[in-house]
Amino acid sequence: MADHRWHGRRQGVSAQSKTLCRLSEIEDGEARGFSLSAGQPDILVARQGNRVFGYVNSCPHVGTPLDFQPDRFMNADGSYLQCHTHGALFEIGTGRCVAGPCAGKSLQTIRVSVDTEGRVRVEGGAQGRPPET
Ligand code: FES
Repeated sequence: MADHRWHGRRQGVSAQSKTLCRLSEIEDGEARGFSLSAGQPDILVARQGNRVFGYVNSCPHVGTPLDFQPDRFMNADGSYLQCHTHGALFEIGTGRCVAGPCAGKSLQTIRVSVDTEGRVRVEGGAQGRPPET
């Protein structure tokens, strides 16, 4: 089971605020975790240049967070999101698992965007496309 002690270190986001951070606060090619308001699942946002991709931070295999250590979401060469519990690999742009125990399933998508001021925003909280089964 993953260690959840570090969750308090994540940046909190209130229910009213839809801004997660500035784009510059997510390194290009990396991802970062966020806690939304109470009752909302933790999410992650991956950055590829000026594009961002948001997912619920829960692996479709067992449901643990993908990052065993804070904000460590990528595999060794940065080509996939990786669940650090059992190693599943997910496409950054689609969330689809391409290798590992949940191959063919997907992370739950969260709609995120970058506004004209360079702020990363979550659209409508954690309401996104449900995971494929
Ligand atoms: S919990 Fe993610 S691969 Fe098993």
